Formats: sequence, C-alpha cells, structure tokens
Amino acid sequence: MIKPIGSDVLQPLFVYDTDEHQELRHEAETMPSVIVSSQAAGNAVMMGGGYFSPLKGFMTVGDAIGCSENMKMSDGSFFPVPVLCLLESVDAIKGQKRIALRDPNIEGNPVLAVMDVNAIEEVSDTQMELMTEKVYGTTDEEHPGVAAFNNQGRFAVSGPIKVLNFSYFQTDFPDTFRTAVEIRNEIRERGWNTIVSFQTRNPMHRAHEELCKMAMEAVEADGVVVHMLLGKLKPGDIPAPVRDAAIRKMAELYFPPNTVMVTGYGFDMLYAGPREAVLHAYFRQNMGSTHFIVGRDHAGVGDYYGAFDAQTIFDEEVPEDALQIEIFKADHTAYSKKLNKVVMMRDAPDHSKEDFVLLSGTKVREMLGEGIAPPPEFSRPEVAEILMNYYQTSK
Ligand code: ADX
Repeated sequence: MIKPIGSDVLQPLFVYDTDEHQELRHEAETMPSVIVSSQAAGNAVMMGGGYFSPLKGFMTVGDAIGCSENMKMSDGSFFPVPVLCLLESVDAIKGQKRIALRDPNIEGNPVLAVMDVNAIEEVSDTQMELMTEKVYGTTDEEHPGVAAFNNQGRFAVSGPIKVLNFSYFQTDFPDTFRTAVEIRNEIRERGWNTIVSFQTRNPMHRAHEELCKMAMEAVEADGVVVHMLLGKLKPGDIPAPVRDAAIRKMAELYFPPNTVMVTGYGFDMLYAGPREAVLHAYFRQNMGSTHFIVGRDHAGVGDYYGAFDAQTIFDEEVPEDALQIEIFKADHTAYSKKLNKVVMMRDAPDHSKEDFVLLSGTKVREMLGEGIAPPPEFSRPEVAEILMNYYQTSK
C-alpha cells in the first residue's frame, strides 16, 4: 500500500487507547481552556484522523510562514499550508503548559483536544498578509477563504495535540465521515491496489461522474474513493447532507457494484485553489489513494485562479519527492452533442463551444430553484430530483 507522507506508518493524533482517552477527557475538564476557531477545530479533526500525518500539532508562526512561502517547515518537512490555532485572546491560558481546546461548532463547547503549549506568539499584520497572499494568491477580503483566515484572532498558540473526538462530523455524518485510518483499513479489506480519489464540495453531475470513470479507466483502478468535504462552505454552496444523498444515489445507480466508496472528511473549505489542491493530494495519499483527480478550477472560487493553476502547481512549486500520489490532470469535461457522451475537451479538438452542453453554476441553480431539471446530459435525473427538492424546500 502507498506509504503515508514522511513516515512508514500513519500517525493519527486521536487517542485510541480507551483508558488513556478516559483519563485525558477527565483531566481536560479542569484544564485552562479556550474556544478555538472553526478552522482550527477542522485542523484538529484532520490531525486526529491521520490526514495531516506526520504533523504533531499546531505550528509556530515561523513554521506557518515557511509552509506559506515554500511549503516547508523549519525542520525541512513538507506541508502545503499553515496549520495555525489563532485566538482572539490568550488571557485564559497565559503561562499555562497544558490546555484544552474547546469546540466552537458544538453547543456547550466540549473539549476537542488537549495541547502541550510550546509557544504563544502574536502574529503581526505583515505576517498575516504574507501568509494570506502566499496561500490564497490574494489578500482580497471578498475572497471567502481570505475572510475566514483573517477573521480569526492574532495570537498563535502552538504545540503537540491529542485529539478526543471528531467534532460534529462523526455524529452528523455517521455513514459518511471517515478518518484516514478507517479509509486505509477499508481499502486494505477490499483488497484494492490502485485507488483513485475524488475531491468534491458539490453534488456530482455528469462531468464529475465521468471524470471518476475516465480516471479509473486510465489508471486501471480497482475503485474510486469519493471524498467529500463535510465542513463549512460559503453561502450558496449546497449543504453536505444534500450532496451526500445526491452522490450516494449516483454511485448506487451509475457505477458497477463495489467500485465506489462514498466518504467524507471534516474540514472547512479554504477556497485556496492551487494550494488547497496540494493539501488535498497530501491527505489523499495519507488515506491510501494512489491517484488523485485535479480538474478544472479545483477548489477555486470566483476568478481568483487560472482554470488549471491547481495542476501546474504540482510541477512548478511542489518540492520534488514530496508526494508519491499521482495527479490525474483532467481537462474541462462536458457532454459532446456530436459524440453523444461526456468527454474531456482536449480529446475533442474538432469541437467548438456549441458542440458541448455547457451550463453555468448560476444557471443550474436557477433551473433547480424553479423546479426545472437540468438536461440529462448535464445531471442524472435522480440527482436532479434530490437537488430540486432541496432548492424548492429551502426557498
Ligand atoms: S472543488 O472545490 O471541490 O474542487 P468540485 O466539487 O466542483 O469543486 O470539483 C471537484 C473536482 O472536479 C475538482 O478536481 C474539479 O477541478 C473537477 N471538476 C469539476 N467540474 C469539472 C469539469 N466540468 N471539467 C473538469 N473538471 C471538473
């Protein structure tokens, strides 16, 4: 099986030993504590599940800047984005060596993780700006990822953590939320050797479905792991339960049995385009995939990134040998009226724009809201029905 990043074995930070778990949970109740940001909570959940292995906890400002600038921490290890725990105030934890991190996304703010504090540092505006520019390619506050990153506090608390639960992800999405440990185990149990993984924050339309099938065929994969984001999205994006239902329906009806695993991970969307694609590849290797699909405008938003920047970054910026997972780079994919099938545009050089069924996201949302199903060339009718129901009941 493909090795995790930087080590022979995956290093999840969840406390699996039941006695240790119980003791730590008990101890954490009386520790000085802080309620962390939603982004920090997502980072903790990812580290808990082994996705960010071999990270041991939250980064210092120096490491976060190194990762922002050239994807490297001070010890030389590779990580594509800063993993910070930024707080508004550190009054409650000043001078403390051991603290509890509380969950902002669950009522009552239960303890999510325990940290051995290495440092508490104040991040300057210049440092914030530098990280924002490097990671998101812009400092525009209209960018939803930039706004979320900058709306956290300016105190970075760093140090190794131990994770006690998986926040609301495990309780709200028991059939879909999976840790990297669980996905590795399931891949092993299924006996899969070549595994394509597919990132998504959307319901899967025909283009998404066919991208998975094309990648599977091209690399002769045993199966595909559809791995959807279950954390926070910008307003207007479709909520996870609706996407989950639509994706499950598509997998059930349109893929051969036992070739798809429908799964999800607990993390807020960064909308960081190319950098997020590298992070995506990083944690797909950790969960055991050998191949990762990166298509058009991967993890993008608005017009902040070029349509294929999230592909070129792997050749131009990712340090050599940092990743073993292979990137399946897909061209713009759409239904061809001439060929009567979904194709990548690079495979149909004689086509003009009019030869494809192309619909903008806005147009599709408009149609669904009015109870009009997009054409079957664009969306499977069963998927369209789930989405129409959602749009009509959420009006
Ligand atoms: S993302 O933000 O999670 O990347 P989305 O769920 O829409 O958004 O896309 C999932 C993956 O499918 C990404 O790799 C994206 O580049 C790719 N993709 C989506 N639609 C197309 C398309 N029409 N052509 C090519 N690639 C696409």
